[in-house]
Amino acid sequence: MDPGQAGPRAGLAVRRPEIELSTHIPRHWLAGEAFPSHFLDALSSTFPFGESFFVRSVNHYRDQIDDPALAEQIRGFAGQEGQHSRLHDEHLALLLGHGYALLAARNRFFDRLLRWQNRRQPKVSLAATAAIEHLTAILARQVLSDPSRFTAGMHPAMARLWRWHALEEAEHKSVAFDVLMRVAPSPWRRRLMMLLVTLELVFEVSLRSCYMLYQDGVLFRRETWSQGWRFLFGRGGLLRGIGADYRAWYRRDFHPDSIDDRALIELQAPRVAAEIGY
Ligand SMILES: [Fe+2]
Ligand SMILES: [Fe+2]
Repeated sequence: MDPGQAGPRAGLAVRRPEIELSTHIPRHWLAGEAFPSHFLDALSSTFPFGESFFVRSVNHYRDQIDDPALAEQIRGFAGQEGQHSRLHDEHLALLLGHGYALLAARNRFFDRLLRWQNRRQPKVSLAATAAIEHLTAILARQVLSDPSRFTAGMHPAMARLWRWHALEEAEHKSVAFDVLMRVAPSPWRRRLMMLLVTLELVFEVSLRSCYMLYQDGVLFRRETWSQGWRFLFGRGGLLRGIGADYRAWYRRDFHPDSIDDRALIELQAPRVAAEIGY
């Protein structure tokens, strides 16, 4: 696809689900297992500051975009990410209520750091955003493609949260990339940023997961780590089979729409809409 053209998803729906993330959700809300629950908790806890950063990074270049379809997508992207941030903030409050206070301290640190990066390094910020959007699109595909793999074992409110978020990540996956191609298309910058954000995300999610597992007193149990292995790398695991999609980013002619998610979106959008009462 011509990187100068906006993708085929003009008019992104900004859904405003009311998902009640109440205190009745147990700590180990995914199949009663500590590792998978806290791995996704860790990821979720980075979204409030992360998604605000994505929106600032893309909005910085809003005035330079003269393609009305892409300008409309930027509005949809900001609206969708804003809603994700809102719900994941509620989830974070739940986690803080469980006593995982380090998450708030890490978030304050990253929020300050990323605001600084937005001001001082807007191109780097945008390339980092596009790279993370590729990672979230890969995870979204995993979550949406087979509900029995992940979401079936979740607490129902958490299943709704993750399926809705995954759908919208698939829907808006090319927006930051299309803006990046317009304003800062260097393939070397985007490759380098992918390497850096991958390392950063792996480190941060690992740190947060281990912290919560430690707080629960299960970090050093063999059972915890066999859950982790099954969840991430076992048959149907979250990170199983994603190598080709991940590596595609490093190709010179890569575009997010070269991985076609349209059939998946068409199939899942009405189901998710019904689940969240949209
Ligand atoms: Fe999001
Ligand atoms: Fe996103």
